[in-house]
Amino acid sequence: MTARVAPGSHLLVTGGAGFIGSELVRRILARRDGTRVTVLDKLTYAGNRANLAAIEADPEQVARFAFVHGDIADPDAVGPLAAEADAILNVAAESHVDRSILDPEAFLRTGVIGVHVLLEAARREAGRADAGDRAHAPRFLQVSTDEVYGDIPEGRSVEPDALAPRSPYAAAKAAGELLVRAYHVTFGLDVVITRGSNTYGPYQHPEKLIPLFTTNALAGEPLPMYGDGMQVRDWLHVSDHAAGIEFALRHGETGEAYNVAGGSEHPNRVVIRRLLEAAGRDWSLVRSVPDRPGHDRRYAMDGTKLAELGWRPKVSFEQGLPETVAWYRDHPDWVSGARSGDWDAYYERQYGERLARGLSVAEAVPGAPPSGQAS
Ligand code: NAD
Ligand code: TYD
Repeated sequence: MTARVAPGSHLLVTGGAGFIGSELVRRILARRDGTRVTVLDKLTYAGNRANLAAIEADPEQVARFAFVHGDIADPDAVGPLAAEADAILNVAAESHVDRSILDPEAFLRTGVIGVHVLLEAARREAGRADAGDRAHAPRFLQVSTDEVYGDIPEGRSVEPDALAPRSPYAAAKAAGELLVRAYHVTFGLDVVITRGSNTYGPYQHPEKLIPLFTTNALAGEPLPMYGDGMQVRDWLHVSDHAAGIEFALRHGETGEAYNVAGGSEHPNRVVIRRLLEAAGRDWSLVRSVPDRPGHDRRYAMDGTKLAELGWRPKVSFEQGLPETVAWYRDHPDWVSGARSGDWDAYYERQYGERLARGLSVAEAVPGAPPSGQAS
């Protein structure tokens, strides 16, 4: 364990009001080991203070917690927070592929300029450590994604593979992590990169596949399945993703990237069928709608590198998916809060025309060849 992230240290977590960031913050503070956490979050449509409510209601935890509303691309917001931090965990991002197709610019601002601003602040702190003005330089952990490897028709991505992103989201994530690596090589910053696979669980904004289809199914609304629904993702429970990030922060070698793989690959049709079972609904809600442009057919990563350091995911998809569906069923107030603001406008823009052209499809037999042709 590096001294920078020992119990009692002070962590700056950007994007800590989002899905994965809030899981990470809840997890760290619930250990009650003296660790302090400052969250810097812009509170975009995906950021939600309610995700941190349990911390703010707990006197012991809230005493070790601070929330700062601000932008990682703002040097004035970032500088003083980096000066206090033993480690910087950059979890903040615009995170949804479909929104990156509708509107790429915010992805570049946060994913490239924001990362640059954070790295410059870390570099300044490393300089202060060299000058003896602070005990040590902050470790910088960049949360990245399997999507930087691009579409993987066969096999599994390993960390030295070339990055070949294909959506504006994935391109911004790849650019961000390349900057992080460049600051390690050029300026000697202590950095670690994690590449997580598709993540699911409680508190995920309901625009992504699992929470969208769960909340729609529970409400008896149609499920807009892109194309034939035979695209494959490797699913990782959010508690495992947060644990993998923390493990890499503590045990990762400086300058290295680590796949945080779920080890649970399924075609979308299988995910949807299981989700419908857990929600007590049937396949008649599914509509095959016009596909996402440039849709990556498959992501799959090899998790050996992190496993060799001692980390593996714990939550099986068979256990995690029904629990997740139950969580959304049991938290209608959280869901209606998340589906406020620009939700209706976004939904209409993304799905209005698609659903008007959507077709009912026969339910596929899992394991059978693609059979998503409209009937
Ligand atoms: P999310 O959209 O739920 O949360 C992102 C958070 O970042 C929000 O709270 C938002 O307000 C905040 N944010 C956005 N721009 C910001 C800015 N400029 N300054 C400060 N805060 C800002 O996303 P998530 O699903 O929790 O993803 C977190 C990270 O994990 C992202 O970096 C994402 O690329 C990565 N990731 C996600 C998945 C997944 O399946 N969700 C998989 C692999 C990697
Ligand atoms: P998503 O949750 O957006 O994650 P990502 O694109 O980052 O993998 O989508 C997961 C899969 O589900 C992907 O193949 C696209 C598909 N999908 C649909 O079929 N319909 C939808 O409405 C959404 C949001 C996703």
